[in-house]
Amino acid sequence: MRPQPQEPRREGSTIPQETTLPEYLALAGEPVEFRALIRQITYAAKWVAAELRVAGLHGMLGGTGETNVQGEAVQRLDEFANQTFVDNLLRSPAISDLVSEEMAEGMHIAQHSRGEYALLFDPVDGSSNLDANLAVGSIFSVRAPRDVLRSGRAQIAAGYVMYGPATICVLAVPKFGANLFTYEPRIGEFMFTRGPLTMPSSGGSYGVNEANESGWNPQVREFVSWLRGPAKHSTRYSGALVGDFHRILIGGGVYLYPGDVQHREGKLRLLYEACPLAFIAECAGGRAVSEECDILDIVPTQIHQRTPLIIGSRDEVGRFLPRQG
Ligand code: F6P
Repeated sequence: MRPQPQEPRREGSTIPQETTLPEYLALAGEPVEFRALIRQITYAAKWVAAELRVAGLHGMLGGTGETNVQGEAVQRLDEFANQTFVDNLLRSPAISDLVSEEMAEGMHIAQHSRGEYALLFDPVDGSSNLDANLAVGSIFSVRAPRDVLRSGRAQIAAGYVMYGPATICVLAVPKFGANLFTYEPRIGEFMFTRGPLTMPSSGGSYGVNEANESGWNPQVREFVSWLRGPAKHSTRYSGALVGDFHRILIGGGVYLYPGDVQHREGKLRLLYEACPLAFIAECAGGRAVSEECDILDIVPTQIHQRTPLIIGSRDEVGRFLPRQG
């Protein structure tokens, strides 16, 4: 029997069905410059999505033999995606500064120096999943150029594109919350799908790389044993932050990448991984903390700095780090 089409989940949205992302931004009254910025980000993402579908056919999987500024092996697709983002973003006069996981230095675009935005991004998050044909993502954060080294509360917008069975984009702006768009390849547009998203206040799963357990501090150990034991959460960990976070955004629960004895700051990058996802989580009613404070309260000192990250539903994150006062 053929499955019957179902009404998409609307979450009380007044956005008409079949609204494209550019139409949504216009309906939302976003300024022309911001709409142009999102257009360039989504162009880049469409190229990346198209390449991912055929990368195995023409030798685009595997490493380049180089290591990036983080000391991690660069995949061919990391390089391709970074260049694709940069090329597309350079076309937008609204962008004056770029910070990428794959570039040692931030890029100031002299001819666009009056542009109102800085874009901080991770072109391919979870690239160890590439060879296995599992979901990966691109994460981005939008700030004013002068705010790059301010706390995550200075972010203007944040989002990610996840390349899974469907290519989806979650875009968060404080006025309209976090909304989900699905790429419709037949018309070449991201279409409004659901939103504003609300993260459940608790959930049934947690994601963490348990192989690091011997290096965790007592606070992390106690929390994870509570998740496994009394809280009866199931483990769900794919090795790519975007997919693992998206599961929690939709279904609730918690993702964590804590520090360990050798890497006190953990693995994830503050400016283009933790901050944008924390911003999305807060827009959806969730929470994100380091081991000491809310992620969005950390004032960065350098563009590639790392942070422990515990992100997800209010109840689970609040159990790990209760709110002060
Ligand atoms: O960007 C870092 C990243 O690839 C994340 O996407 C992912 O959650 C994490 O690293 C996985 O790290 P590990 O392999 O140490 O579990």
